[in-house]
Amino acid sequence: MFSKLRQSISAREAFELVEADLQAVEREIGIEAVACVDAITTINQYLQAGGGKRLRPTLLLLSNRLFGPSTECARHLAAVVEMIHMATLVHDDVIDMAKTRRGRPSTNVVWGNHVSVLAGDWLYMQAFQIALRERNFHILDVLISLTQMMVEGELLQLERLHRLDLTEADYMELVDRKTASLFSACASLGAAAAGSDEASEAKLSDFAWNLGMAFQLVDDILDFTSTEKILGKPAGNDLREGKVTLPMIYALESASEQERHAVESVITAGSYEQAPLMHIVHILERHNAISRAYERAHTFTQKSRAIITDFPESPAQRALHSILELVTGRES
Ligand code: IPE
Ligand code: IPE
Ligand code: MG
Ligand code: MG
Repeated sequence: MFSKLRQSISAREAFELVEADLQAVEREIGIEAVACVDAITTINQYLQAGGGKRLRPTLLLLSNRLFGPSTECARHLAAVVEMIHMATLVHDDVIDMAKTRRGRPSTNVVWGNHVSVLAGDWLYMQAFQIALRERNFHILDVLISLTQMMVEGELLQLERLHRLDLTEADYMELVDRKTASLFSACASLGAAAAGSDEASEAKLSDFAWNLGMAFQLVDDILDFTSTEKILGKPAGNDLREGKVTLPMIYALESASEQERHAVESVITAGSYEQAPLMHIVHILERHNAISRAYERAHTFTQKSRAIITDFPESPAQRALHSILELVTGRES
């Protein structure tokens, strides 16, 4: 059920270190997915069976392992962050009117918007219910701030749709909110669940924040350069949805009037009928925008690498290292 990310040797070792814990997390998600109303349980099971990389629980568990054997609290919180992630994806697909998620019809396509919004709400609250059992205000504080950051991010993203004048700073703010904040929270929670000191928790949170930034930048590049089969969602999706991402921001800096017009036509029509995706990708290449965006992603991975290198060497530390290398080299 886990993706290609796990196929390289170093990645396999990284995931193997927490494999038993991840299995416990899957069992917990399965148990906690049961609601009094069948439709919600069915959607939750559909979401869980849909796969996904389980990157966030892995990050949380590995951060926890840096401080010793994994703790029970970390396993619960790993389930919590994956459930929060799933809930955000359900809501996000409603907002984006997405048709595909993890290679299958998205929940909004199968059950409609109304049911999907409610199922997403239920899942959010179930995640908080599990977190609440830890009776730890710091954990709740992290999760509540995170959720508000993400919701605000989705709203800002909506406000900034279809805008060709989006700046790099505007874009980075969205990436911070919608992706890096969750990565960062995962590392914080992993450390907190180990009872780590505040300084180490803050350092790990910074490591994961930079990792999350790089992850989303690469995700936005892959949206142009990869394929639906690999991505589990159609290529070229972002621009079609009206989202101007970093490669496009770079290309637009020096694009001709004609090129700008082609980009605009995709955003306005919500399709590649007038300007095929291949044509748009050529524009990006002509302006060196893909490699520039990769370079920008690398500045985040470099920061991340410097932070994790500072931790004492251990299997978990090496595993976090290899996850970091994978993020920029990934295909899906
Ligand atoms: C999808 O995240 C949402 C983004 C932040 C791009 P992932 O690519 O980690 O999704 P799954 O969980 O593997 O499906
Ligand atoms: C990802 O946002 C969802 C969240 C992190 C809230 P996007 O809309 O950019 O990502 P995809 O393309 O649907 O996975
Ligand atoms: Mg979205
Ligand atoms: Mg989306």
